[in-house]
Amino acid sequence: MTCIAMLGYGTVGSGVAELILKNKNRLRKNIKDELILSNVLVRNLEKHKESDNINILTKDIEDIFRGNVDIVVEAMGGVNPAYEYVKRALQLKKHVVTANKDLIAEHGGELLDIANKNGVVLRFEASVGGGIPILKSLSECLVGNNIKGIKAILNGTTNFILSKMSKENMSYEEALKLAQDMGFAEANPESDVMGYDAARKLSILSTMAFEEKVNWKNIKINGITDIDTVDFQYAQGEGFEIKLLAIGEYQDNSIYASVSPVMVRKNSTLGRIENEYNAILIDGDAVGDVVFTGKGAGMFPTASAVFSDIVDIIQNKKEKGILFDYNEASVDTLWRKENKWLLRVNTRNRVDAMAGLSELFPYCKIITKGMYGLEDEVAAFVKSENEAVLDRNIETLREKIDCNNIKKMMMLED
Ligand code: NAP
Ligand code: HSE
Repeated sequence: MTCIAMLGYGTVGSGVAELILKNKNRLRKNIKDELILSNVLVRNLEKHKESDNINILTKDIEDIFRGNVDIVVEAMGGVNPAYEYVKRALQLKKHVVTANKDLIAEHGGELLDIANKNGVVLRFEASVGGGIPILKSLSECLVGNNIKGIKAILNGTTNFILSKMSKENMSYEEALKLAQDMGFAEANPESDVMGYDAARKLSILSTMAFEEKVNWKNIKINGITDIDTVDFQYAQGEGFEIKLLAIGEYQDNSIYASVSPVMVRKNSTLGRIENEYNAILIDGDAVGDVVFTGKGAGMFPTASAVFSDIVDIIQNKKEKGILFDYNEASVDTLWRKENKWLLRVNTRNRVDAMAGLSELFPYCKIITKGMYGLEDEVAAFVKSENEAVLDRNIETLREKIDCNNIKKMMMLED
């Protein structure tokens, strides 16, 4: 018998409780074990008074650590007090499974170290890519590879919002509300829409993939809050979609790491990922390109990942390579390869802006005048040998012409 205590009974926690019940017979048959949910910590008991599990819900953290708990599942979210509770559980020699990327991105190294010292396991498959078994695949199946790069859609909420805005002309506010109602968004959805959630996931993924600590605070982060309907029109006019892309890639001796809206071809692997689905493209030196896709958010996809971590712990499958005791990586926030970008120049001086763009960029495709009814804007698809040169040219343009703002968005051709 394995005794499980849980912190949190929201979208993820209640999904895990349901999977434990649903898989009772299968576990008994396949691994000859039974999972018992002992206590579940919540903040507000009143909210759960209709729940079937009301008798095991508690507001007292001491109930979690009482008795013979084997595994603590953390599904409450946020860094504090989750950090304190997880640390205490590990020190008390309880295994821990968490879905909390904020916690792992911030304190993963220290917590894994405490787990190791206490002879227990800390697992966090659900913290990246929801139901997609990506961390296990990286640490076990791809262990023979030097990972060269990662391109990924890592946030279900923003992919859902962008899909609804692009395909159904839904407003940003409506789409966000729907994502919240469906349980995809974080308690504070700023974390999703500003790109922090994806950056924390990229930090965890890159640290494991590149075996260097990629601090999420060093990642270039731009969310989706500045995307407007005209961006979609420019993208669609060229056969592109806009995705919030997390990119981690070796560039010389550093790691390029960014989360930002990027234009990707409509029919490409990433361009076809819709709604709350996530996708992770990994480029390994031995395997080549591999793609993982599935639901990146939601009750049961996430509970599926938590449940598999629980079963792995019971079966004593210790993960290889998840240590995080790596040196801090040198993180680069500028793309160093030739690429195309969309530039939107907000100006009353359209003629000078067009002349300036054509002069500065040998490849410059200007979008015809007033195509989307914006009389005070010149847009162009430009090519630049790298992002530093692009930024210098943008500055030069800014000095040359009278303009209010220049917005840039990267385009990925493949
Ligand atoms: P949620 O629906 O907001 O549920 C959070 C639960 O934790 C609630 O039951 C809440 O209690 C409890 N809680 C929060 N703070 C607490 C505190 N200080 N003391 C006691 N209880 C507390 O959140 P969720 O969507 O399940 O997400 C949980 C974690 O999973 C987060 O780290 C999130 O990033 C991660 N995750 C979520 C998804 C997803 O699709 N939702 C996917 C992957 C990972 P009350 O019920 O009383 O409010
Ligand atoms: N809020 C997160 C998302 C949950 O939308 O991807 C899954 O980590």
